[in-house]
Amino acid sequence: MKIEKVCNKVFYALFFIAITTFVSCSSDDNTTSFSAVPPVAQDASEIDFTSFRASWSNVFLASGYELDVSTDPNFGSFLQGYESLAVNQLFQSVTGLSLNTEYYYRVRAIVNGVTSENSNTISVETNEEFPDDITLKSATEGNFFVGVAVSEARTNIAAYDEVYTREFSSITAENDMKMESIFTGIDGSGNIIFDWSRIDGLIDYAEANNLNVHGHTLIWHRSIPQALEDFTGTDQEFEDLIQQYINAVFTRYQGKINSWDVVNEAIDDDAGTQWRNTLFLQRMGDNYVEKCFAFARAADPNVKLFYNDYNMTFDGIKRGKVLDMVDDLLASDLIDGVGYQMHIDYNFPSREQIQEATDELVAKDVIVHFAELDVKLNAANDLTDLTDERAEAQRQKVREVVEIFNAIPQNKKYAITVWGLKDDDTWLIPENNGRPEWPLLFDESFEKKPAYLGFLEGL
Ligand code: XIL
Repeated sequence: MKIEKVCNKVFYALFFIAITTFVSCSSDDNTTSFSAVPPVAQDASEIDFTSFRASWSNVFLASGYELDVSTDPNFGSFLQGYESLAVNQLFQSVTGLSLNTEYYYRVRAIVNGVTSENSNTISVETNEEFPDDITLKSATEGNFFVGVAVSEARTNIAAYDEVYTREFSSITAENDMKMESIFTGIDGSGNIIFDWSRIDGLIDYAEANNLNVHGHTLIWHRSIPQALEDFTGTDQEFEDLIQQYINAVFTRYQGKINSWDVVNEAIDDDAGTQWRNTLFLQRMGDNYVEKCFAFARAADPNVKLFYNDYNMTFDGIKRGKVLDMVDDLLASDLIDGVGYQMHIDYNFPSREQIQEATDELVAKDVIVHFAELDVKLNAANDLTDLTDERAEAQRQKVREVVEIFNAIPQNKKYAITVWGLKDDDTWLIPENNGRPEWPLLFDESFEKKPAYLGFLEGL
């Protein structure tokens, strides 16, 4: 009884203090409104290249706070995700920022369902230098490979070599390991004439620099040697040449190239559910993909065999066909991994689309390669120069891609490979008749772009 009375007294006392001290009351035209006292925003701490910590004073009886962050001191716009962000503590990490940029934050308290006025505004500038002690390679070590498409010629150029070896843990030949580069003819006895020079050069380079090599690609309709196009032998003789080719490559690089894209882009776009009509299909039949995987498996059972294709993140019909094929190949233990080529746009596909496509692949018993990453900024041809805004959008897309990949179960992560080092080298410019593009992580001067930081942020 006594204790209850004391409690009641304490309660009323506290209530009185709360009302009189922390909530001011005003009466106007017969309406009564309460206004909570705003918190005092404190200086930012833990300021980094891409983040800082905002904090503020406690408001008595506040059930929570709302944080606004903007690049505009007048808060005419907000940073995505930071407009009235609900926070239940007295600080909040603000992440995903641009380096060397001024940000502003303010905060409100919520007391008894009433939101206070804005606090004072704090300004904070993120650091201006890229973190030089962190590289793509160091940040992904022990997690997955981060690869780059290279050419043998560029490995001999000091400026490329410096970045290749500093940033990457894996290389893929952009063209030097395709059939047209290696299979240069057929001699009088019906044997393939090989040119091993560039692929040998790449293997030496990889060995010297402790780089993984992902082989790309044994069979692709856009890299068919003239001698095969012109081949007048029987279908069986054609197929024997394909087997001879796969055997020769696997034998020569046994223990040196531990993964290969066996077949690249075998599914037709328009029909979605059809095999692409290629010379291989015409000569070897509908099951040519399976035959090639079987030749590869027989040539070296230790090599990880991949299928690689594009538009996989948003074309559900095509993806369905590929995943059915993967099931068939898995049933005969002929495949180990799948590459989703990541030739995407800064605004497409959506995060949700990429996530869904990834989930469907992760459900299969294969390892995952996000291959051929480049993020187009100018598909609509509305830019003649790269803008800061577009470069930032690219950074966010790269970050999304890396976040999604990084969240894949550890034993299924193979690699993320970017399709070229610097913007002016991209295949997309010639591919699109000279349309300006800036799809990569480094600019034409080998400098890191915001997209590079997006990669790091995604980890
Ligand atoms: C491209 C190269 O980047 C270009 O230099 C070449 O002219 C054509 O091939 N899908 C693939 C890659 O699997 O091999 C292609 O590479 C890009 C599309």
